[in-house]
Amino acid sequence: MVITQKILRNVSLTAHPAGCRRAVEDQVAWVKAHADTSGSSAYPPTGGLSMPKRVLVLGGSTGYGLSSRIVAAFGGGADTISVSFEREPSETKTATAGWYNAKAFDDRAKREGLKAFSLFADAFLDETKEQVADLIEEEFGHVDLIVYSLASPLRIDRESGVTYRSVLKPIGEPFTALSVGLESDIVGEATIEPAEGDQAEETVKVMGGEDWILWIEYLKARGLLANGCKTVAYSYIGPELTYPVYREGTIGKAKEHLEASAKTLDDMLAPIGGSAFVSVNKALVTRASAVIPIVPLYMALLYRVMKEQGVHEQCTEQIYRLFSTILYSGREIPTDSEGRLRIDDWEMRSDIQGEVERRWRLQRAGEPIKEGDLEGVRSEYDQIHGFGFPDIDYTMDVDPREV
Ligand code: NAI
Repeated sequence: MVITQKILRNVSLTAHPAGCRRAVEDQVAWVKAHADTSGSSAYPPTGGLSMPKRVLVLGGSTGYGLSSRIVAAFGGGADTISVSFEREPSETKTATAGWYNAKAFDDRAKREGLKAFSLFADAFLDETKEQVADLIEEEFGHVDLIVYSLASPLRIDRESGVTYRSVLKPIGEPFTALSVGLESDIVGEATIEPAEGDQAEETVKVMGGEDWILWIEYLKARGLLANGCKTVAYSYIGPELTYPVYREGTIGKAKEHLEASAKTLDDMLAPIGGSAFVSVNKALVTRASAVIPIVPLYMALLYRVMKEQGVHEQCTEQIYRLFSTILYSGREIPTDSEGRLRIDDWEMRSDIQGEVERRWRLQRAGEPIKEGDLEGVRSEYDQIHGFGFPDIDYTMDVDPREV
């Protein structure tokens, strides 16, 4: 079939296998180039660093999780296991991008002599934890790093039969702000109704730290954590203009819980010389972030400002910086006053935020976005689904089952 891109309400319904392979290969090439020789202190070579060698990534098929896997494997020579929840392809329907990414990653890692296992399973389930633990036992012995990078709309509790859903809503009162979709550059106004009933608690259940703790507890009980094992999960804070829908909304409650869970896990890992962290990352277009109201407009302004200042990064650059200059730099790990790692430092610089705020005030509902980079956001969004690579012929008939 000829695979074209179909987007509905900022969700891509299709993905292109050749393009997803290209997106993975491009990230691998960038990491290898910097790992071997680097001219920049922001992205130092990894040769002399004690990078982790056996890595588990929960949510390793797209976005920050995929980048974590790529940096670990191609920047540090790690064997990796990824767990992700992705749709398989059929003769007439494409897989989700993460399915193609995982296949492309496994092929490339194996060609370089690295072990790579991609499981497509629900990370919240006990049986998945058991399956992964068996695999670690058989193939790795122990793990040195567990990255927790899930972004999920729901969590099913098999025992009680309850389904918890995560929602992106303000708490207390409705929030109205300017917004933009990926399909048109006309700025609109969006009103988001506040969370009702148990929606905030349910969001914490899905996106908070409970499941992260369950993973580490289980792997520890099975004796699969190496001495000095680290674990990291990802969070976001962002500017005040997104607080009502993000940091002070339902997802913010979940992130607070995630951050508190890092402290619990840090205590749990201390006896084996291990440690747990939350890293606060930059706003970037991923499948998860594109559907947050207001955020695409903020990202469009932020991208343009950061590109003008020469400090725009994508997930892979962010994670490379996290590993090489913070987690595995060999120096004391720098944290903020809350114990978090900050790779959103460039995004949150006062000159960057000041300029984004100025541009935010220029926007008017019903008019095209001003001084933003919606094109850049859109092009990254297309590429993470395998579209928009100039040298790929998108008119070709391809079998969606072949990566
Ligand atoms: P993403 O949508 O690209 O990746 C989510 C991953 O979770 C995918 O691999 C998906 O397959 C997996 N997943 C979802 N449900 C699953 C399940 N039940 N079982 C197994 N795997 C499952 O999202 P993104 O943006 O990379 O988010 C990852 C983390 O980074 C999240 O905690 C997010 O809040 C955080 N973050 C994201 C930022 C952004 O701007 N994109 C900024 C800062 C933090």
